[in-house]
Amino acid sequence: MAVLVTGGAGYIGSVTVEMMHGRNIPVVVLDNLVYGHRQAVDADMPFYQGNVGDRELVKKIIAEHGVTACIHFAAYAYVGESVTDPAKYFANNTVQTNELLNTLIAADVKNIVFSSTCATYGDPLQIPISETHPQKPVNPYGWSKFMTERILETYDTAYGLKFVALRYFNAAGATEKCGEHHEPETHLIPIILNTANDEQPFVPVFGDDYATPDGTCIRDYIHVADLADAHIRALDYLADGGGSTHINLGNGQGFSVFEVIEAARKVTGRSIDVRVDARRAGDPDRLIADATKAAEVLGWTPTNSGIEMIIRSAWEWKQIHLHGYSE
Ligand SMILES: NC(=O)c1ccc[n+]([C@@H]2O[C@H](COP(=O)([O-])OP(=O)(O)OC[C@H]3O[C@@H](n4cnc5c(N)ncnc54)[C@H](O)[C@@H]3O)[C@@H](O)[C@H]2O)c1
Repeated sequence: MAVLVTGGAGYIGSVTVEMMHGRNIPVVVLDNLVYGHRQAVDADMPFYQGNVGDRELVKKIIAEHGVTACIHFAAYAYVGESVTDPAKYFANNTVQTNELLNTLIAADVKNIVFSSTCATYGDPLQIPISETHPQKPVNPYGWSKFMTERILETYDTAYGLKFVALRYFNAAGATEKCGEHHEPETHLIPIILNTANDEQPFVPVFGDDYATPDGTCIRDYIHVADLADAHIRALDYLADGGGSTHINLGNGQGFSVFEVIEAARKVTGRSIDVRVDARRAGDPDRLIADATKAAEVLGWTPTNSGIEMIIRSAWEWKQIHLHGYSE
């Protein structure tokens, strides 16, 4: 018996695999390593390099490891790239996911925890954003996840698949063992820490004229270990017979870009230069989660939620893994 974790060599997946291993939950990882790192997963952990849309491979993994449930992290997640190359995103995130779901259902594996995103909401009509907020993505990445949510819903009706679609806000932070290493890196906190470490000269800040107190965009940062814990709770919820549902994962608190940079200055003791650039298209002023449903349904509340705590964990990981997983 094992849980199939797709994208388990990626950032959030590797932390979840680490936590599941710590709680003695048998895991088998499938990752194509296009963006993941083999070193992020213990050498003795069952690991397959391949695509989630490879039906023969997934069939073989299910049979050999007695897979009973799946946490599906695998996806491409560069919003900007999805605008210039939507085909890549629909092919990987939606079409391959559809193949994965077909293979799982054919093998009678019907409990799925899915990595969705706050990008499925698009521009917020109200803050905080609850799960009942209308979904109208503003980029192909968001649409690729939106469509997968709809596929999951119809597969529940038709085939009895049960899912928890977790809509994350901004994942951040690290455990002692696993941290964030994306190439290219587009997330704010790693960029700030690269700057603190003199790997780049300044943090580009995209717009300081938003309708927020300091003019920079406000986002909801959630510690990656809290995210991992929510996935395990979602698996338990489904195993206990819970029905399909969509759940936000966020802190319920927002921090502006300047506030995050200031917190990083405190944590690192380094001066961190910034350069204010033009706004990027499609960046709303604020994105903050209403995470009450996660507490009600999963009994989940974030425990590592302070912004300094999140940054400190990422900074400590960086001190040990100066070049991420590249060494
Ligand atoms: N990081 C965030 O803040 C955030 C926010 C919202 C949603 N998400 C979603 O969470 C998931 C994990 O995000 P992450 O930041 O860990 O990303 P990541 O890129 O670090 O991890 C994704 C992993 O999936 C693998 N992968 C991609 N396509 C695959 C395929 N077809 N077959 C097999 N493996 C494949 C990649 O190699 C990578 O290891 C993604 O689905 C992402 O869309 C992330």
